[in-house]
Amino acid sequence: MGLTIALNRGRILKECLPLLARAGIEPTENPDDSRKLIFESRSGGHRLVVMRGSDVPTYVEYGAADVGITGKDTIMEYGRGTHFYERLDLGIGRCRLMTAAPAESDLARGLDARRPLRVATKFVNVTRQYFESKGRQVTIIPLSGAMEIAPLMNLSDCIVDIVDTGNTLKANGLVALETIAEISSRVIVNRAAMKTRFAEVQALVATLGADADG
Ligand code: PRP
Repeated sequence: MGLTIALNRGRILKECLPLLARAGIEPTENPDDSRKLIFESRSGGHRLVVMRGSDVPTYVEYGAADVGITGKDTIMEYGRGTHFYERLDLGIGRCRLMTAAPAESDLARGLDARRPLRVATKFVNVTRQYFESKGRQVTIIPLSGAMEIAPLMNLSDCIVDIVDTGNTLKANGLVALETIAEISSRVIVNRAAMKTRFAEVQALVATLGADADG
């Protein structure tokens, strides 16, 4: 049997399907047009499993998937431990993890008082580490999506979120402030699969890597 590959649905999926196709891994139907979540490959017996990005590290850590493709933001949020190997930067899905606040706010105008900041985010671990490293006291408000609304509803002073084009921030009257991390999509590999499926994993990483470099 081939490899089981966990893929981050959405933008990353769209960008990584052509890379996988060039590596000879093509699903029998287009995951973008289907409600199905598990796809067999046309050749090689691989399986592609499409899921929420934040679940990709979990599937790979526990070996339900041999390989995963997801954003560095998701991997950072999952934790710094040795849950799996991060083998390749695909150079796709490029964006930034940033703080942002309403354009008219004290924070955005540099008039920030030193009271504990209320920060809304789904990246609670990364956010905690970031503000701790700056010695800044914060109250983290966990949300699972649409963080941009939180400061507008006075739920928080600012947010930590992914910024790509900046359109979402702009449309909601927010401005980006500080960059926490430059993000791109990474290939992660289950620790046991790295040994037991070494040849297949290496071949996949090498092909995707050649593509990423070229
Ligand atoms: C991300 C992020 C922002 C948006 C930023 O959400 O949470 O809402 O993209 O992109 P922009 O700077 O180009 O406007 P995404 O659409 O990936 O959905 P998600 O909330 O499911 O992650």
